[in-house]
Amino acid sequence: MKYTSLALAAAFLLAACTAGVKQGGPVYLAVTRSVEERVADALPRLTTEEKVALTHAQSKFSSRGVPRLGIPEVWCTDGPHGIRPEVLWDEWDQAGWTNDSCTAFPALSCLAATWDREMSLLFGRSIGEEARYRKKDILLGPGVNICRTPLNGRNFEYMGEDPYLAGQMVVPYVRGVQENGVAACVKHFAVNNQETRRTSTNSVVGDRALYEIYLPAFEAAIREGGAWAIMGSYNLYNGQFNCHNKRLLVDILKGEWGFDGVVISDWGGCRDDDEAITNGLDMEYGTWTNGLSGNASDSYSNYHLARPYLERIADGRAGTKELDDKAARVLRTIFRTSMSGVPHFGSFNSPEHYAAARRIAAAGTVLLQNDGTLPLKVPAGGKLVVIGENAVKKMVVGGGSSNLKTKYEITPLEALQEAFPAAEVIWERGYVGDTSSSYNKVDTGQDLSDPRSPGQLLHDALAAAEGADAVVFIGGLNKSKGNDTESADKEDIVLPYGQDGLIEALAAAVPSLVVVNISGSPVAMPWADKVAAIVQGWYGGSETGHALADVLTGAVNPSGKLPFTLPRTLADGPLKTERQFPGIRVDGEKWWQEYYDEGVFVGYRWYDTQAIPVQFPFGHGLSYTEFDYSRLALSRKAVSCAGSFGLDEGTEEVLRVSVDIANVGDADGAEVVQLYLAPPAGGVERPVKELRGFEKIALASGEGGKVTMSLPRRAFSRFDEDAHKWVVDPGTWKVLVGSSSADIRITAPIEVR
Ligand code: BGC
Repeated sequence: MKYTSLALAAAFLLAACTAGVKQGGPVYLAVTRSVEERVADALPRLTTEEKVALTHAQSKFSSRGVPRLGIPEVWCTDGPHGIRPEVLWDEWDQAGWTNDSCTAFPALSCLAATWDREMSLLFGRSIGEEARYRKKDILLGPGVNICRTPLNGRNFEYMGEDPYLAGQMVVPYVRGVQENGVAACVKHFAVNNQETRRTSTNSVVGDRALYEIYLPAFEAAIREGGAWAIMGSYNLYNGQFNCHNKRLLVDILKGEWGFDGVVISDWGGCRDDDEAITNGLDMEYGTWTNGLSGNASDSYSNYHLARPYLERIADGRAGTKELDDKAARVLRTIFRTSMSGVPHFGSFNSPEHYAAARRIAAAGTVLLQNDGTLPLKVPAGGKLVVIGENAVKKMVVGGGSSNLKTKYEITPLEALQEAFPAAEVIWERGYVGDTSSSYNKVDTGQDLSDPRSPGQLLHDALAAAEGADAVVFIGGLNKSKGNDTESADKEDIVLPYGQDGLIEALAAAVPSLVVVNISGSPVAMPWADKVAAIVQGWYGGSETGHALADVLTGAVNPSGKLPFTLPRTLADGPLKTERQFPGIRVDGEKWWQEYYDEGVFVGYRWYDTQAIPVQFPFGHGLSYTEFDYSRLALSRKAVSCAGSFGLDEGTEEVLRVSVDIANVGDADGAEVVQLYLAPPAGGVERPVKELRGFEKIALASGEGGKVTMSLPRRAFSRFDEDAHKWVVDPGTWKVLVGSSSADIRITAPIEVR
């Protein structure tokens, strides 16, 4: 059967396939042909030029489609915390539309801190709906690079230091996004753990650390989550740029994991004409119109996968096999998204989305320390003093490509004033941090300039705090350069702008100081034992203030847990040398070299194994109630594991671990029950324990419940570099169940053969 155009084919399908439409119900176009049949049907109709046009950008965020056949353009958007405002065709600046202010969701570090798969699904669904409403086909997120160093400027866009946590949290997000006919583009693949010299540094990492630490979250997103897109990172691995890295993209991603979606370059990350063709890249996007550098007057036809590709095909230097594969993948993406046949319409700025943002932000807020001062007690007619720039600074704007324009952003101060209408809630600045208010021409409209000297600011803060019923300091980092932002790393984990000194001075003057640290990455808290309570807040998006106030007032009982360790000092961490971070020059090598000498000993795997005390451990987070752990029970069960990631198909025995949890305090609350495995002594050096399971359970005061977790063989495995496979070390293992990596409540041995 021959059609003159795909539009005709679509018309035929429409006529032939509307069976199943429910009378009176929603109207669905039931496309009966599978995506693969449609790809096979469409591909041969395309000319070489049309196929090549599918593989590179035509504007900052779009590629061309095939207009002749009615195949639409592909539109991408950042990602990962909300839908980016429309930008100019060739420029980063926002286009100035008036209908593109989105719901800003919390940063992914906050989502990870919920340790709650349901929150991740809610996040994915909500942001997917916003993307679909804005007619975006590919959402550039989520990011799952591991927090190898607290200094990474993009930690706030990622999901913490543990591959299992990140892997569990990314899967529902991806599924939720894709339910809307929007492809989730997981990023940045892979071993991209710093911003310093991000486009000129080669990550030198052994296979064990690669497979055990840096790949699992990506693998989960692809194999469990079924992500339709992935973004190559800017850095090099194995001496090759990751946007066309043969080992990562061809061997591992498309080979070992069987990925059938589309590999997208990071913006300007494609660097070589030939490798772009042969090494697994499918779509090239750019920072400027000629790829990496240049300006807007060049042409998109200069892209590696544009004119150079056509020239190579014309003179025989390149064949068309790879081109067909790339074009098929782009078509598959289009048939999965804009042409799926299922009419997704999405929704934008709905009350439900703002409610979701608030719920997630509150669920991720971590109560680090509390002597009973929290929840806040401020009597009617009383005085609550709020000190610190982050109580008023709007932080949805900034941070790099995750910069958003939101309809509104509730600040912590506004939310606290709302929460205590009968009290006097006053604010003093305390310190001057970042006074900027705009990014890519998105402006918060705030004027944060302040002429006062640090001495005057301290004096004014102390004066304000006098006679207060409660004093809350709200500071931390922001999204300016050298804080939490793309393109630059932090220099230290010490709080900037003299905040440590200010907190010490306040703590000396105020009996029960509450400190709220807002950041997306670990900071040091040397004053911890001098203050009454500490809360870790995050870049919470549109509803950030409400979410924080919910926890401070007790309207929400905190249940977040740290997704990364808070060390005492940077020097305590595993990265000791320049060769580890930020990399060195090596004779004979063109690029900077960064050696992952610490291997698998990242985050708590390092601190635990070296017995180095930390300020607050991975997985830590308190509640306004108490939980009791009892009756740890282990049982073996055979399950079928078709397609379960990292495992052969067939039947395998899993270890079932159950534990009884009781809420023995006065408030309703939720606990994240964490399961770690400790390997047998001897043999290959392994971390003393590793997270292998978790469940969040909500219990009313006085209520009890049971949590059950399953451990597959992979949970007991380590990656054997020489054999290139997962192996299990036999011996006596220990199952450790607790409330954080350092608060193990109950254990049991298990013999592994
Ligand atoms: C960032 C990506 C982002 C892209 C498009 C790049 O600079 O690394 O995360 O998706 O720009 O804005």
